[in-house]
Amino acid sequence: MTIPIWRQRLRAAQKREGAVAQARWVQLATVSQNGSPRVRTLVFRGWIDETQVELFSDARSDKFSELNHQPEAEICWLFPKAKQQFRLRGVIEILCPRSDSVACDQAWRNLTPRGRAVWTWPQPGAPFIGNDSMAINVDDNHPLPDHFRILRLATLRVELLDLKGDFHQRLLWTRSNQIWIEERLNP
Ligand SMILES: Cc1cc2nc3c(=O)[nH]c(=O)nc-3n(C[C@H](O)[C@H](O)[C@H](O)COP(=O)(O)O)c2cc1C
Repeated sequence: MTIPIWRQRLRAAQKREGAVAQARWVQLATVSQNGSPRVRTLVFRGWIDETQVELFSDARSDKFSELNHQPEAEICWLFPKAKQQFRLRGVIEILCPRSDSVACDQAWRNLTPRGRAVWTWPQPGAPFIGNDSMAINVDDNHPLPDHFRILRLATLRVELLDLKGDFHQRLLWTRSNQIWIEERLNP
């Protein structure tokens, strides 16, 4: 399958940012059980097929009760050098070690020792209990934690706002029968 146009635009914007870590930071918005919004930063981990965004997280964090209640979510991805904002909307699938051991194990091994350590820390968002028992690095042999999760956003709608030039450009892509339809909107 060919790479959709919006992904080609996104790739070009990402390239302009260079190798900086920030070019992989995305904002993930979810809806809480009472309907109020939630948003936080996550690291973009890669593409699955041509349109699924892969993220890693911790099942002990709040976003999981939100996603179990409402799996629709949106990612906002800003590329400051390109002056472009991409908003990817879709449905999140959650992969866990028990049912998706191969994918989770591979993801866990591919993390850096420092990146891996976060999953060995105490319950995220619970009252602080001190740093004493918290590792800074966790080596490759550490077993995959049960609460490790892969999130895959199956993208169904993408909006690009491009601030370059005198007039801003706003484009919308929607997926219909495996085909991406492009529409230009007022900025
Ligand atoms: C630069 C940056 C990168 C982050 N990357 C991740 C990540 O990849 N996965 C993750 O679960 N949390 C990541 N976080 C922490 C989240 O923003 C958030 O605090 C955490 O996931 C708990 O969110 P929740 O309570 O809304 O579930 C990152 C935070 C920052 C500032």
